[in-house]
Amino acid sequence: MGIYLDNSATSHPKPAEVYDAVIHTLKEVGANPGRGGHKPSLRASRIIFEARELIATFFNAERSSRIVFTSNATSALNMAIKGILNEGDEVITTPLEHNSVLRPLFSLKKSRSVEIKFIDCAPDGTIDPYSIEKLITKKTRLLVLNHSSNVIGTISPAKEIFSVCKRHNVLTLLDSAQTAGVIPIDVMDMNIDMLATAGHKSLLGPQGTGILYVKEGINLKPLIEGGTGTQSSSIEQPVDMPESLESGTVNTPGIAGLKAGVEFIMRNGLKNIRDHEIRLNKMLIEKLSDNKKIILYGPKNPEKISSPVSFNIKNLDCSEVGFILDEIYDIYVRVGLHCAPLVHKLIGTFPQGTVRISVGYFNTEEDIDAVVKAINEISCKV
Ligand SMILES: Cc1ncc(COP(=O)(O)O)c(C=O)c1O
Repeated sequence: MGIYLDNSATSHPKPAEVYDAVIHTLKEVGANPGRGGHKPSLRASRIIFEARELIATFFNAERSSRIVFTSNATSALNMAIKGILNEGDEVITTPLEHNSVLRPLFSLKKSRSVEIKFIDCAPDGTIDPYSIEKLITKKTRLLVLNHSSNVIGTISPAKEIFSVCKRHNVLTLLDSAQTAGVIPIDVMDMNIDMLATAGHKSLLGPQGTGILYVKEGINLKPLIEGGTGTQSSSIEQPVDMPESLESGTVNTPGIAGLKAGVEFIMRNGLKNIRDHEIRLNKMLIEKLSDNKKIILYGPKNPEKISSPVSFNIKNLDCSEVGFILDEIYDIYVRVGLHCAPLVHKLIGTFPQGTVRISVGYFNTEEDIDAVVKAINEISCKV
């Protein structure tokens, strides 16, 4: 494999323990958790229980039953948004959002007359937490916030924004797809009512994993109903958490891998992981800034962003840059709109998009040198 710099899409590689946990669970455990009383089924249930407990501790959730396993961040966001918003509610959000927030919201605008209000952002994605106060009315039920943009990396002041929400009794949903596993998240301290995230990005789990935390006292209408392995005599969906939101067989090997990913993060320390990301992004931003043919988007301070760094080479289509990096240099980045169209309207790159480099914990300084050298060579040709 060449140099993988697309960790905002999904992290690669995973720690060795993640691969081991997935294979062990598939080969040696095998059975369906919560669906039988036999030994392998109980072993599978134990894996799920331990993963739930670990993740609850990681995010400081009040109890592990409030952690729901989903198949990705998109399903977690859909469950939260469609499970909480009712006819005529108002919702506040930002132009930084991914389509996994925008599309469910705009579909509810049609089907449930939900009114969507956008917080103003500066061109680098920065938000003034107090600017939201003027958007709140008696009908405002929810604020959905991207913790960090998957295009320009800007980290939102979630704690400050959510404390304003709390004063006005507005529920809060944090999309931490780009931050969980790199930036500390404490649901109690940050006033997070619902937290949606991917398991396969910085949490280092396999694809097909995601997490939704729902605070005690909040009851979401389930999107999917069916077998839970509990209360089987009833033909109605159980209301108990997490079963009410976890119908059907869960991804046991994936969740075992996710548990191993979170254990790896806890062992290595969130601060070390974040420091590594900052160090590589500092190098990347400084070196790219030296090239006058490059336009960099978003904050230039690596402490203010998570992994993704977006840029364009003047007079060159971003897809061509991505193609050359892949074909000639074996360097893998993402190009285009990155499923977040409104951010591009904010930074002036709609509809073409940007080239996005997103480092991960296993990238090295040599990887940064190699990608910068390649970009400089490509820019010389225009
Ligand atoms: C900010 C953000 N939210 C949501 C998602 C959706 O994640 P998933 O692919 O796990 O559904 C992504 C994916 O890139 C993202 O960056």
